[in-house]
Amino acid sequence: MCGIVGCVGRPDETLDVLMHGLSKLEYRGYDSAGVALANSAVEIEKHEGELANLERAVESDAPAGPVGIGHTRWSTHGPPSDRNSHPHADCEGEVAVIHNGIIENFQEVKDELTAAGHEFTSDTDTEVVPHLIESALADGASNEEAFRAAIERIEGSYAIAAVFAGGDSVFCTRQDSPLVLGIDDDATYLASDVPAFREFTDRVVYLEDGEFARIDADGWNVSTADGESVEKTIHTVNWDAEETGKSGYDHFMLKEIHEQPRALRQCLRGRVDELGGQVELEELAGVRPSSVQFVACGTSYHAALYGAELFREAGIPAQAFLASEYVTSPPPIGDALVVGVTQSGETADTLSALREARQRGARTLALTNVVGSTVARECDHTLYIRAGPEIGVAASKTFASQLAALNLFAFAATDDHDREAIGALRDLPSTVQEVIDDSTAESVAEAYHDADAYFFIGRGLNYPVALEGALKLKEITYRHAEGFAAGELKHGPLALVTDNSPVIAITTGDGELARKTVNNVKEVEARDAPVIAVTDGQSDIERYADHVLTIPETQPRTAAVLANVQLQLLAYHTADQLGRSIDKPRNLAKSVTVE
Ligand code: F6R
Repeated sequence: MCGIVGCVGRPDETLDVLMHGLSKLEYRGYDSAGVALANSAVEIEKHEGELANLERAVESDAPAGPVGIGHTRWSTHGPPSDRNSHPHADCEGEVAVIHNGIIENFQEVKDELTAAGHEFTSDTDTEVVPHLIESALADGASNEEAFRAAIERIEGSYAIAAVFAGGDSVFCTRQDSPLVLGIDDDATYLASDVPAFREFTDRVVYLEDGEFARIDADGWNVSTADGESVEKTIHTVNWDAEETGKSGYDHFMLKEIHEQPRALRQCLRGRVDELGGQVELEELAGVRPSSVQFVACGTSYHAALYGAELFREAGIPAQAFLASEYVTSPPPIGDALVVGVTQSGETADTLSALREARQRGARTLALTNVVGSTVARECDHTLYIRAGPEIGVAASKTFASQLAALNLFAFAATDDHDREAIGALRDLPSTVQEVIDDSTAESVAEAYHDADAYFFIGRGLNYPVALEGALKLKEITYRHAEGFAAGELKHGPLALVTDNSPVIAITTGDGELARKTVNNVKEVEARDAPVIAVTDGQSDIERYADHVLTIPETQPRTAAVLANVQLQLLAYHTADQLGRSIDKPRNLAKSVTVE
């Protein structure tokens, strides 16, 4: 997810305000940054890499003007580079545009514009917008009319802002991407997130999807797509500038858990047919593996286990390997497609496993979050999970998005048109929201934050979720936690179970797997272990549980994603009550680039 910022009303300080805003938004993306300031012309300065590169550049060559916009980028189309950095301009350099989101129909629009003589200078989807604006201006539209005409032509998700040469206004709008105005007596700001301008004002106006705002020296107004004025409420934020960056959340991890509905929407956007019977992945057109080997580490390995299970359910042989072990002892590959699951795209063990596979003739696919990452550059195919930047070291939203993307991959690659399962996937953003809103994990954490150990059990698709629940809890609480296949408990681990070691049992559905897991729960209950059931209420597990974390009834594939959200919250609140360094757990790093 990119960060956008804008400012009108502080003519001598526009650049400083924009740079300050970008520094507060850098967590949203840090592969390039840029600004555009409008005076009689539009002056743009933009650079690949961290904000520091832009800061150095504007020290010697500072664009100036009373009106300006800025952008910090998390690539979705086109790798990080100066030319793919925002703002983007039209052919004549009369308009500059910044964008957060994905324009789905950009190729079609770009083809039309190219045929009409427009020359593009980047690989981005965003660049179609200034060119659309340019076309409308050439047809006699005013700046505002041209901006609206361009927005009418695009489909997808966006928060977009534009400035014009000789213009005194910033125009902006949103659809499925956040955009908020900051209101001060003599200045108005816009941004993806309040931290960008919180230091200057605490009065904010949240724009809704489909609303347009015009900001100029006289103030601001908001209107609908049809131009009808909208009365907006000015809210006062009740947190300080120091808290910026976490949007008021105590930790990035909590923020990222709460961001999951949006991340999932972004992952599914344009890939699931609205009627729910079809998954389309243009990037994997024609990919129909006869067998699949997944390679991954840590949380991504748990996603890989889940992905392998999806393929096996569809009758395609599939296995998940720990990437480090795959290199040590490579299995026969045959004609398997080798899939690297890695949110960062830079994990050394995973890259080595993929290189090993390629060397032995395999075709490879990268499932990653980072556009332009090494894995994406090296693999034959790439499927982006589109979760946006994740700052907390413990993966949360990227895991959920990996599971969603693996579902998309499995549906598309096996020609599966199961309407109910695809419908449940499409509804995942709202069901995850329900789980977040109704979770009682905090009070369960209160009851057990002093336990000796925590054991997580599940079967089938819930087995990798049990492993992930344990990993999350151990890495941020520093407490002993282990995940087991529920059936394995009685083959050894049961010896560890005491009355101070809660067993967290993930039991969804009412079939054979649930019935057997309930039996395993009876075994631990008989040994006095407290039982925390994560359940959709379909089995009778609640009878044997001391606490219940509920999820809505859904399909088995999506139930696993929902159950994981409860486990994330349980781990988070336990760590919080123990006063741990949640975002930067000891000894860990976000991207592990050594083997
Ligand atoms: C745990 C976690 C790690 C990563 C692992 C692989 O919360 O984040 O276990 O999953 O280091 O990282 P990626 O997915 O970047 O390859």
